[in-house]
Amino acid sequence: MTVPNFSFKDYYRPSNGDLILLPYLNGKDPLFSENATKNIPVPPKAHGDPGGDLTLHRGSVGDKECLVRTARLDKKGVEPKEALKEKVAGALKTLEDEGLKRLIVVIDEVRAGSSWMDLLASSMEGALLGGYRFDKYLSKKGTPPKVACITGKRLTQEIKQEMTGLERLFTWVNRARDLLNEPPSVMNPVSLAESLVSMGKSAGLKVDVWDEKRLQKEKMNAILAVGSGSAHPPRLVIGEYRRRSSKAHLILVGKGVTFDTGGYCLKPADAQIGMKYDMGGAAAAFCAACAIREAKLDINLTVMVPLCENAISSTAYKTTDIIVTRSGKSVQVDNTDAEGRLILADALSLAAEKRPNWLIDVATLTGACVVALGEDIAGIMGQDRLLIEIVRESGMAMGELFWELPLHLPYAEQLKAEIADMKNIGKRWGGAITGGLFLKEFVPDEIPWVHADIAGPAVKEDPLGHLGKGAKGFGVKTLYETAKRLSKGEMI
Ligand code: BES
Ligand code: ZN
Ligand code: ZN
Repeated sequence: MTVPNFSFKDYYRPSNGDLILLPYLNGKDPLFSENATKNIPVPPKAHGDPGGDLTLHRGSVGDKECLVRTARLDKKGVEPKEALKEKVAGALKTLEDEGLKRLIVVIDEVRAGSSWMDLLASSMEGALLGGYRFDKYLSKKGTPPKVACITGKRLTQEIKQEMTGLERLFTWVNRARDLLNEPPSVMNPVSLAESLVSMGKSAGLKVDVWDEKRLQKEKMNAILAVGSGSAHPPRLVIGEYRRRSSKAHLILVGKGVTFDTGGYCLKPADAQIGMKYDMGGAAAAFCAACAIREAKLDINLTVMVPLCENAISSTAYKTTDIIVTRSGKSVQVDNTDAEGRLILADALSLAAEKRPNWLIDVATLTGACVVALGEDIAGIMGQDRLLIEIVRESGMAMGELFWELPLHLPYAEQLKAEIADMKNIGKRWGGAITGGLFLKEFVPDEIPWVHADIAGPAVKEDPLGHLGKGAKGFGVKTLYETAKRLSKGEMI
């Protein structure tokens, strides 16, 4: 990947090829003051009326050739701190197109007031996540552009620390994107497990990998069944972070289907596009765990990611097969394309055996969730109000949207089967909910549990806000923030 080099600077020293971004909170209020912009030619129209959005002014600062752009953050329905991320990402695109060298974002405390910290964080996120390019397979690689945020004064030690923490988190979001952007034959269950081991170790997690033999011994029969069609056998990667000072235990579980062909219930060609992102839950859960460990949050954390390739071959599981899952419950596979819930069933059983205080699973589980909420919003379901709210609010704070869908119990009837305890699909309608209800069967009621269906935002190919085409790393930020809030202990 190529990611910009980002830094905070207290004052601005012009240089040839700078693109200067001057944000306005609304039509009138600039977020920069004369103090911070002493030597920047504020575009004439920018006084009083900034002349609309994204006005470009070519000119010179002293003897340096620069470009100045104004950016209004009062976009309808978008918070200024979210709008700024998009503006920074957009300006980086201009930087590339115009062959410029450095992006300058000016936000000083005098003008920004109480939202200063948020806007500093947004400049950084806009640069580090909005400027991410997956160019590994391009013959022409990019060079990392420079981005400087001019703050008008020196940052305190406390703010610096906060920003360094965020920078680390964003690095893990980009690492998740790297895993997801890799082609599906490169990232198979075996190679993905290896990548996770090295990433986890670099972050300081204790990592264990269960291979097919261990999975057999542990009766993880649903994971084995889904993985049985592939020459790349399934894996379960378990990461642990223990903290003696805390009694709280959070377990994250993520769906890791490295490619979902649908199996014998084969997906049509166009529906297979995007299915390399079907490990989006695993990438989010694992990278969030790494970020949580790196930040040394005061919480005990376990992450479990079942990894499979849902493929077709003579050894693949078949429609109407019956699997006896780890929990002892038998499942009739009425659709081999509803594979995510099967591998999660085993992982959730194992997780629940450890009696965590909270259990959260993240999965690109159903197309139905995308029909319900569109591509930008993830669904959440669960039986614990507080945990649902914490996940939703953490998401909102980090700019990732979650909306609750009800676990309407009567729909569970649809999962009844004749010769097995249950089947793996319900009717067509309300498919995201029946997916959630299926998972619920594997989590005892007394364990606070939330299921996040991230099929929309994790599989979206088009840009999402400041995040460009391809993988978004959706969920890493929210899971990190959720763990942070839980670690503060308000919930046990
Ligand atoms: N990975 C898919 C879900 C998916 C679909 C994610 C589209 C993102 C975009 C999942 O394994 C799947 O195929 N689910 C089926 C379930 C159905 C057979 C009950 C679906 O959504 O069609
Ligand atoms: Zn599927
Ligand atoms: Zn799938």
